[in-house]
Amino acid sequence: RHSRQRLVVGNWKMNGSLAENASLLNGITAHWQGAEGVETALCPPYVYLSQAAEALSGGPIKLGAQTVSEYSNGAYTGEVSGAMLADLGCRYVIVGHNERRRMQGETSDRVAEKFHAAQQAGLTPILCVGESEQERDAGMALETIGHQLLVVVKRVGLEAFARAVVAYEPVWAVGTGKTASPEQAEEVHRFIRAELGELGARTQILYGGSVKPGNAEQLFALPDIDGALLGGASLNADDFVAICRAAA
Ligand code: G3P
Repeated sequence: RHSRQRLVVGNWKMNGSLAENASLLNGITAHWQGAEGVETALCPPYVYLSQAAEALSGGPIKLGAQTVSEYSNGAYTGEVSGAMLADLGCRYVIVGHNERRRMQGETSDRVAEKFHAAQQAGLTPILCVGESEQERDAGMALETIGHQLLVVVKRVGLEAFARAVVAYEPVWAVGTGKTASPEQAEEVHRFIRAELGELGARTQILYGGSVKPGNAEQLFALPDIDGALLGGASLNADDFVAICRAAA
C-alpha cells in the first residue's frame, strides 16, 4: 500500500447548537482510543469554530471550516476570510462542496479563487469534486470531474496540490444513503490521481457520500481512497469515532 496518511474529515454542515456541540465534542474526545493513527478534522459552522477550537485544543483532532471567502479582509459584508480562519486555529477548509456549487451559485472559477485564498492564508483546502446523477447516467462523470479539477489547476498550478486534499463526492450519494460502489469510487479516485500528474501519488483523496461505520472499512481498503469526508456520520460521536478507527 502507498504511504499516504489516512484522513477523516467531519463536515457538520448547518447543524448544531452550543449544547449539542458540547456533547458531541465531548463524546468524540472521550472515546478516541483506537483512532490515534488517523489524521482527522472537524468542520463546524463558522459561529461555532471558537467553541470547537477550545474543546479540541491540544488534542489530535484538527479544526476546519466549511467554506472561505475568496477575498482578503475588507468591505465584504457577511464574508469570512482565510486569515480569520487561520486566526481561530483552522488547519483545513472545504472548498467547492456541491451544496455550495448548487445552492450558492459557486462556479468552478470562484472555487478556484477560494482554493487560492485558502492556501494564501496557510490553510489546506479540501477541494470537492463530483458529478450529478444525470452526468453519471450520461456517461459524463469523469469529464465533469476533470473539468472541475482543470479550472483549479489553471488558477493555482499543479504544484499547489502538494498542499491540498481532494474529496470525491458524487452528488447523488450525498445524504441519500446511496454510496458509490467500491468500483465506481476507485475508478474516479484513480482518474483524479492521474489528472494530478506526478503529485497524484502524494495527494490525499477522500471519498464522501453516505459513508457509515458499516461501509467505511470496505472503502478504505481500496488503494486510491485515503479517507473520508463525512456529513451525517460526523454528527454522531460513536459513528465518527468508529469510522476514524476503521481508517487508523
Ligand atoms: O461533505 C460531506 C458530505 O457531503 C457527505 O454527506 O451525509 O452523505 O455523509 P453524507
